Amino acid sequence: MQRLYRKRIVLGVGGGIAAYKSAELVRRLRDHGAEVRVVMTQGGREFITPLTLQALSGHPVHLDLLDPAAEAAMGHIELARWADLVLIAPATADLMARLAQGVANDLLTTVVLATNAPVALAPAMNQAMWADPATQANREQLRARGIRLFGPGSGSQACGDIGMGRMLEAEELARAAADCFETGMLTGKHLLITAGPTQENIDPVRYITNHSSGKMGFALAEAAAEAGARVTLVTGPVFLPTPDRVQRIDVVSARDMLAACEAAMPCDILIAAAAVADYRPEVVAPHKLKKDPSTGDGLLLQMVRNPDILATLAGRADRPFCVGFAAETENLLEYAARKLRDKNLDLIVANDVANPSIGFNSEDNAVSVIDRQQHETRFGQASKGHIARALVAFIAERYKES
Ligand code: PMT
Repeated sequence: MQRLYRKRIVLGVGGGIAAYKSAELVRRLRDHGAEVRVVMTQGGREFITPLTLQALSGHPVHLDLLDPAAEAAMGHIELARWADLVLIAPATADLMARLAQGVANDLLTTVVLATNAPVALAPAMNQAMWADPATQANREQLRARGIRLFGPGSGSQACGDIGMGRMLEAEELARAAADCFETGMLTGKHLLITAGPTQENIDPVRYITNHSSGKMGFALAEAAAEAGARVTLVTGPVFLPTPDRVQRIDVVSARDMLAACEAAMPCDILIAAAAVADYRPEVVAPHKLKKDPSTGDGLLLQMVRNPDILATLAGRADRPFCVGFAAETENLLEYAARKLRDKNLDLIVANDVANPSIGFNSEDNAVSVIDRQQHETRFGQASKGHIARALVAFIAERYKES
């Protein structure tokens, strides 16, 4: 199992002798399935070349905040949004001090300030520098702000001293990075998640569908599995690999999706991210429809309502905690709140699909969650993986309170 499969890691490399281990770390992270982008400080470049890390990560290394060409390719804000985790290894005493103060005077410290992703540091320095009260105060301050520290370890140091301050080995750091995604918040719970579009046949060669790629629903399934849940993912036709530890059921039409969901019940939490066709052709033609001169240039299809999967499951006696999605192009919050009421939901995730960068088939999303008291919680633009983890954490909290 690749514990970091498809995770996007920004690896910050500071200016310490342990930077030589960063090359191995890039390899270990990629072995665990992560995609790695490297950001180096000026000091980091004195110890290891960007070319080495470029070759190992498979991407150009990010070096300067004020380089217009690099910023045009992938700017610091984009890099900060792209990350699922920012891991700084080695984190020197100087870097820790700058981060503790919120200084943003180079690319790496700026990315840390700009990211919503978790940040982890692997400290590496001389034992006396680590023991110094200033470093210890910075360590405490960083911890209090939710920044994780991996290590340091103890042992013989490059300078000849023995003590605390050694950077952990690459494999230990890769495992610690993977642990960041395993929250255990939903251990013992069964989550049923719908994803993707449905297809409603017109005849043997044509169907009605929509632009859903399944990315949002699959990211939710992955995040729920990482949170320790048993996950059943019922998906319409999409081209995505099944996340680890997720039971996937492929369906085609809305009626298939309802049948698969009913068969997967009972569950503790239902998250309906699928874009289900509201209507289907009343009759599916047994043969390919031919152009009919008697109807001129038109073709009339009689449509009938599909069952509402979410409302059906929310109306059962063994009703789970129900979370719907509302994809809207106007009056987002008003329409979403109406769906929450009409479908008897606990939460609804309002998704503005008029904005192509955060809707159907996009890499990113930005959503608002509305509860029964009409409170709105906003999740700003980030990768669908990041949004999914934040949503799963939020849903787990609300489920526990229910
Ligand atoms: O798949 P991606 O490309 O990543 O895009 C993600 C997404 C935009 C599809 C997703 O974030 C999203 O918003 N999904 C809901 C899309 C939608 O069709 O919403 P709706 O407003 O039509 O439906 C409201 C809710 O009822 C949804 O939870 C839907 O799954 C559910 N529903 C709708 C109709 C129906 N017959 N049965 C249902 O269960």
